[in-house]
Amino acid sequence: MMDYNTKEIVKCGSATIVNHLPEIGLLKVVSEIVDGLNSSPKRISCKYFYDTEGSNLFTEITRLAEYYPTRTENAILRELPLEKLIGSFDIDIIELGSGDHSKITLILERFSEAQLQHMRYIPVDISFSTLETSVRKLAERFPSLAVEGIVADYYHQMHLVPGERKKLFCFLGSTIGNLDRAEAMNFVRNISDIMRPGDSFLIGFDRIKDTSMLESAYNDQTGLTARFNKNILRVVNRLILSDFDPDDFVHRAFYNPRHRRIEMHVEAKKSLRVCCPYMKQPFELQKGETIHTENSHKFDECDIHALGEHAGLAVNRIFSDKKEWFSLAYFRKTN
Ligand code: SAH
Ligand code: AVI
Repeated sequence: MMDYNTKEIVKCGSATIVNHLPEIGLLKVVSEIVDGLNSSPKRISCKYFYDTEGSNLFTEITRLAEYYPTRTENAILRELPLEKLIGSFDIDIIELGSGDHSKITLILERFSEAQLQHMRYIPVDISFSTLETSVRKLAERFPSLAVEGIVADYYHQMHLVPGERKKLFCFLGSTIGNLDRAEAMNFVRNISDIMRPGDSFLIGFDRIKDTSMLESAYNDQTGLTARFNKNILRVVNRLILSDFDPDDFVHRAFYNPRHRRIEMHVEAKKSLRVCCPYMKQPFELQKGETIHTENSHKFDECDIHALGEHAGLAVNRIFSDKKEWFSLAYFRKTN
């Protein structure tokens, strides 16, 4: 669920979740979606994948044989010398796009309850339902840990992150690849601007690799990625009161070598007219025309260093699997 209407504060034991999406406002969301549909090429932001259904489908995708990024990153996370890297336990861990909390669990379970007592975990996610479930489960599993969930759009609302303590930001899963290259540069720079010397930033990057392996990861045999992709039309229907029928579309995902990214689109099976009260005329699509729903950029080491340099962050270490399918880069703010 993505709730842009009700400012809600939920308490689960000592943990809290605050929904800040109403501060963006539904009208802004509607105009962003309508503008995207009216632009050329037509597009919908991938942040609208993640209602309850979309978030659950993504969790299922992470377990697919073809979808190598999650298990590869998890294996690197399990070996990460995090205690050494962070130094002190008096720290706020801020996870951007925290999803189903499986990755932070791999990190937190390495610390004792006594160490967790000093830490605060602040997950930031656009999906209220996912964040609520995660915060409840984490509060149960790690009773000594302070947990403060923030439902927000991390691209526009990073001012919500509390300022006082030493910080470790985490942006895992190569979700950074879902931003355009220039957006990713700005994003990391904005985070760097709120970091203080000694703070750090752990970012997961999916690496450039064999095209057929990349394309299989986004065209799985069971059709889960297709369901995930087409579900965005249901989310859009709820937000802009349109009448897209997801069955009128097919899933398309392919590698674009010029931009070094997987692109996902939904393609119209036939000529279509879609009605929406926020559009003066019905929205038209020709047979074979697509709406671009996601980019998933892939990275090499030069890209990682360039991101750090642009943001004023030093690359402290890059941790990769043996085949270099995935990398976790640990950046530090030095001045
Ligand atoms: N980090 C997890 C989840 C990745 S899926 C993992 O590696 O498995 C991407 C997550 O980012 C989803 O939980 C989604 O709800 C969240 N997300 C996507 N766009 C967002 C935005 N603009 N602001 C906040 N969260 C966002
Ligand atoms: C969340 N994000 C990093 C995933 C990716 O691989 O770009 C989303 C996804 N899209 C299709 N499959 C998974």
